[in-house]
Amino acid sequence: MKTTILITGGAGFIGSHVVRLFVTKYPGCRIVNLDKLTYAGNLANLRDIEKNSNYEFVKGDICDAGLVQQLFEKHDFGGVIHLAAESHVDRSISNPMEFVNTNVIGTVTLLNAAKQHWKASLAAVLKGRLFYHISTDEVYGTLGKAGKFKETTAYDPHSPYSASKASSDHFVRAYYDTFGLPVVISNCSNNYGSYHFPEKLIPLAINNIKNNKPVPVYGKGENIRDWLFVEDHAKAIDVIFHKGKIGDTYNIGGNNEWKNIDLINLLCRIMDQKLGRVKGESAKLITFVKDRAGHDLRYAIDSSKLQRKLKWKPSLKFEQGLERTVDWYLSNEEWLTNVTSGEYKKYYELQYVAR
Ligand code: NAD
Ligand code: DAU
Repeated sequence: MKTTILITGGAGFIGSHVVRLFVTKYPGCRIVNLDKLTYAGNLANLRDIEKNSNYEFVKGDICDAGLVQQLFEKHDFGGVIHLAAESHVDRSISNPMEFVNTNVIGTVTLLNAAKQHWKASLAAVLKGRLFYHISTDEVYGTLGKAGKFKETTAYDPHSPYSASKASSDHFVRAYYDTFGLPVVISNCSNNYGSYHFPEKLIPLAINNIKNNKPVPVYGKGENIRDWLFVEDHAKAIDVIFHKGKIGDTYNIGGNNEWKNIDLINLLCRIMDQKLGRVKGESAKLITFVKDRAGHDLRYAIDSSKLQRKLKWKPSLKFEQGLERTVDWYLSNEEWLTNVTSGEYKKYYELQYVAR
């Protein structure tokens, strides 16, 4: 049993779901959440568990080697679940250096601290320690009409974001091969659900439809993504953290491919119904815009290894998950307004400093 776990990026979209799952499911474990609270991190995502006695928040940067080392010494972490990252492809096109810093240098900073503190060695398997790196299917590049990404698919990243994630994956494997650091990696497809920052396709479209603003669809909307409900991703992370084989990689996906334009049309139909609009009204907001540079055409994950070996499978059908997501955004208007205005971030930062 890994009793104290460091989760990085726990105030973000996926991280907050992972923190919530671990804090509530494992009351005997202590969860330390290290997060810099960038524009994407928000302590309001964790309000329901922030007072739990087995939870602690630390505001800080994973690139800060002194802080990271100090945290290892103080808590003697049994495990690390590393989610902190710059995660938005469009931002990586306008500012690649942020992605190099956090995704590459930040990851190596954490690997160094774990290696030093755990005294990793090729000569002996470290018992009860695990460095779990959360990665993305984008490292595999793009698919044509057929086929799916397997764990053995060669890396072929195209955006600065995916190149930085691919680089971090290589470093994680290098620390396993060279220093015997006990690691595991998972590569997941597109997530959706609550607490998703409204710069990404689904929450952005929900927010814009609600506010009668144009819904930007890149290119012709023909790109395909494989969508997974975020709580199913968190459950997969739990299973892999506890039962995954050291040194292994697991692909996680929803087996749920959607062309962007079909997905947006489905969302428009759900929004018409939820907002009491005439059928077809929301779809009038769809606006085709200039394509993303280097836009990968299709992602699809083969998650059969995870399903077969660790008995995980997605629990929700997409239409159900999407409706649940729309309901969450419509009944959490304050969250949406505040994350877009930056109000929550300011409020929680002040409150944190005051403690
Ligand atoms: P997110 O952008 O919502 O959250 C990232 C979190 O990391 C934020 O809380 C942010 O404050 C924190 N952070 C950023 N830089 C930091 C730094 N230098 N130090 C400490 N904290 C920092 O991201 P997400 O969508 O929740 O993604 C989480 C992880 O999962 C990422 O590693 C991402 O690559 C991966 N992933 C995401 C998806 C997806 O669909 N969103 C799919 C597969 C994999
Ligand atoms: O595949 C996993 C990846 O999924 C994660 O690693 C990334 O962190 C996550 O951001 C996500 O990347 P995508 O680029 O696929 O997600 P995004 O929501 O930005 O875009 C989804 C698709 O929708 C993509 O084909 C681009 C398109 N799009 C996006 C936006 C924001 C639009 O057509 N219009 C938009 O306004």
